Amino acid sequence: MQGWLPLVPESASTFSWQVDALYFYLSGVTLFFVLLISAVLIFFTIRYRRRTPYEIPRPIAGSHKLETLWTVIPFVIAMTMFGWGARIYFEQYKPPQNAIEVYVVGKQWMWKLQHATGQREINELHVPVGRKIKLIMTSEDVVHDFFVPAFRTKADVVPGRYTTLWFEATKPGKYHLFCAEYCGMNHSGMIGSVYVMEPREFDNWLAGNTGSSTPAAAGQQLYQTLGCASCHGANGEGGRGPTLAGLFGRPTQLEGGQTITADEAYIRESILNPGAKIVAGFTPIMPTFQGQVTEDQLVQILAFIKSLPGGTRAQGAQGTASPGASPAASTPAASPASSPAGSPTGNVR
Ligand code: CUA
Repeated sequence: MQGWLPLVPESASTFSWQVDALYFYLSGVTLFFVLLISAVLIFFTIRYRRRTPYEIPRPIAGSHKLETLWTVIPFVIAMTMFGWGARIYFEQYKPPQNAIEVYVVGKQWMWKLQHATGQREINELHVPVGRKIKLIMTSEDVVHDFFVPAFRTKADVVPGRYTTLWFEATKPGKYHLFCAEYCGMNHSGMIGSVYVMEPREFDNWLAGNTGSSTPAAAGQQLYQTLGCASCHGANGEGGRGPTLAGLFGRPTQLEGGQTITADEAYIRESILNPGAKIVAGFTPIMPTFQGQVTEDQLVQILAFIKSLPGGTRAQGAQGTASPGASPAASTPAASPASSPAGSPTGNVR
């Protein structure tokens, strides 16, 4: 399309035409009314001009019919824009289940990416064409924004939480990656490239870029060295702390009766600020790990917890875990009060 109409950037994802179509619609409606109003303005200026210096116009009393018309028509047009835009929005911001996951950490002023298979990249992202890719993103410092114009999608990358972005590239090639949120002096230099490759080419790339361990394996190592295993078990089977195996994506009951879904944000918070949400039946004895783990390491621990058997993938095997069902996995077997020696959360490292 950009061949004959250089109004839009290159189109290379399944979102591209959807977003472009909406923009053409918005532009079309805008253009139509600009022309209509200009034409009517000029016509009225001539038709109702003052012809003699002493002319007094006829009084006008108004028209309910006309007012209803110019209220209802713009309302309907505006709602089509809203409805159409909302549909695209919800599709873009609800990542599909079967996507390839890539972890992204933004910092002043670079993009650090790691594939689930371990490959690390800086300011570059290699992905296969025709596959759904999900980015799980966070920032080490300030707000950044991951933006690939050719894919017509972007999302803020925010310190202290995980945001996601997904896309399916439709055309092999090299595409611009921008930071689309002003983040300091070298914001404009926080750029990179997304390489969309044929699947076989991508497999070759993956094979030629081993080296670092997978995020899950690195997370397992951290899990041991940080001492998580002493309370949560070597394989997340639980003990003094809640069970972690199978936790991800499941409903978890908290002290006080509230039930939440164990997502990335919850696990991250529980590592850095363990006292914020206490699992029902446990006492807040876990120390904070604030300042001891980097964002990269948090992502790795998260990947490890997700990889523990009994995770979301194994959910079907045990029958459907309906939301609100008793989260047996997180109910402690032993008395959690066995260790009053632990310091209350949050006051020490
Ligand atoms: Cu990062 Cu702008």
